[in-house]
Amino acid sequence: MFSKVLTFHLVGIDAVLVDVEVDIREMGLPSFTVVGLAEGAVKESKERVKSALKNLNFNFFSKPITLNLAPADIKKDGSHFDLPIAIGLIAAAGFITKDLTDTVFVGELSLDGDLRGVNGVLPMTLSAVSSGIKNIIVPYENGQEAAIVDGINVYGFKNLSEVVGFLVGDLEGERFKIEKSQKEDDRLLYDVDFMDVKGQFLARRAAEIAASGMHNMLMIGSPGSGKTMIAKRIPTILPPMSLEESIETTKIHSVAGILKNKGRLVRERYFSSIHHTTSDIALIGGTRDARPGAISIAHNGVLFLDEFLEFKRTVLEVLRQPMEDGVITVSRANRTVTYPAKFMLVAACNPCPCGFYGDPVKQCVCSEIQVKRYRSRLSGPLMDRIDIHVHVASLNFDELSSIPNGESSETIRKRVEQVHLIQRERFKKDKIYFNSQMAEKHIKKYCQLNQDSISLLEKVNKKYHFSARSYSKILKVARTIADMDGAEGIETKHIMEAVKFRITDQWTNEL
Ligand SMILES: Nc1ncnc2c1ncn2[C@@H]1O[C@H](COP(=O)(O)OP(=O)(O)OP(=O)(O)O)[C@@H](O)[C@H]1O
Ligand SMILES: [Mg+2]
Ligand SMILES: [Zn+2]
Repeated sequence: MFSKVLTFHLVGIDAVLVDVEVDIREMGLPSFTVVGLAEGAVKESKERVKSALKNLNFNFFSKPITLNLAPADIKKDGSHFDLPIAIGLIAAAGFITKDLTDTVFVGELSLDGDLRGVNGVLPMTLSAVSSGIKNIIVPYENGQEAAIVDGINVYGFKNLSEVVGFLVGDLEGERFKIEKSQKEDDRLLYDVDFMDVKGQFLARRAAEIAASGMHNMLMIGSPGSGKTMIAKRIPTILPPMSLEESIETTKIHSVAGILKNKGRLVRERYFSSIHHTTSDIALIGGTRDARPGAISIAHNGVLFLDEFLEFKRTVLEVLRQPMEDGVITVSRANRTVTYPAKFMLVAACNPCPCGFYGDPVKQCVCSEIQVKRYRSRLSGPLMDRIDIHVHVASLNFDELSSIPNGESSETIRKRVEQVHLIQRERFKKDKIYFNSQMAEKHIKKYCQLNQDSISLLEKVNKKYHFSARSYSKILKVARTIADMDGAEGIETKHIMEAVKFRITDQWTNEL
């Protein structure tokens, strides 16, 4: 007999409908053939499904079986094919007679038939609704996630025999529903707050400027000075995400398997931290298991590069495309997948090899030549792309215990939101959103300087010899500072502050 069961295949963060077709013939030698470009994990499905079905006393493996996954022209991968394959087999063997054309199945099976949660259930459910499918059957632990989506009946089960019981009418089945109030809860549930950062006026100011104009930022400071602490709090001062951004972010987190609060869309901007030892796959994502990497997980949030100077040039090259286009394209084994990757880049490094150059508390033990050599690495193509550099000085124990808490994230976020609104209005015809995205023509139009500012820039330029790139960074950052000030034009004080955040240009000059 023949059966057809619906499921999905993930392409990037979108789900494509797949037909699982099973044909069990009455005559012939036992065989189990899979066709239709099944890749690694799907091939393994065969063994898991066989074992799970045998444990439920379904014994039709003495017959010739053909399994086809259609459309045949896309490679399919993922353990979530287990459940639709198992149901297809049971239906083809004649044990399920119910019409399955308006139901989609997703789930991994253990060898004894338990259903295990899988990644990517949210995009699959969204895709099911837009394909007009009425029901989705998922592992119990994915029920909440699927139920975020309206317009479809979501059933969650703990094992295969429950699913079969439901399909033959022996079992009611648990329908997942989430209260509207929970779905629409748009409170921001961050577990850190800028309030926790004491003192650090300069670094806090740099972070607020960066968030206000969506500028990239580098923090230079000694170990323990609070760089990571500050970076982690930058997502909390960025404005709340739009609904569209929330949906896209939640889809990425679903596919990456990092969704935490499954009954609601992700509202919080993510902090994704990478280290120079992070593997390329963890960084950019892989096509083998269709998982987005740290760069995409940071979509609409912050990508933090700790120990910035230790990164290989190739990794920094990889960051160019997302920094310019907001997407990352992963090509591997004849397959190309594109993941969204629009993030704010925040980096951190020490000021010298020992880490304590310029530290008010601990003495640096490096020689002058060591410091110079170290600093010469802070140049080059990626460095040119960083708008704001700030020195983070460490606080001593007395300061840490006596200084009161700083301003809260909410207070800062409200100011940042205002500055974003100013930019949205300014750029409404320009197809950009933020000062950091300005091209030369926008800079000419929106960063006109008065005579005083021109003279000031000429004066500092004589001292530091800014490159053309640095020069336009100064103008962009000054534009943001002027916006924060509510000023129509850029004034000398705005330029002066922007110049203060080009520390490494000043170093280059000292070399
Ligand atoms: N300004 C501050 N206010 C409150 N606590 C602070 C501050 N600066 C540092 N701390 C404390 O010191 C700890 C270490 O800070 P953090 O890990 O952010 O330093 P770091 O600059 O990233 O160091 P490293 O270079 O070693 O990565 C923090 O977890 C926090 O407890
Ligand atoms: Mg750190
Ligand atoms: Zn040192």
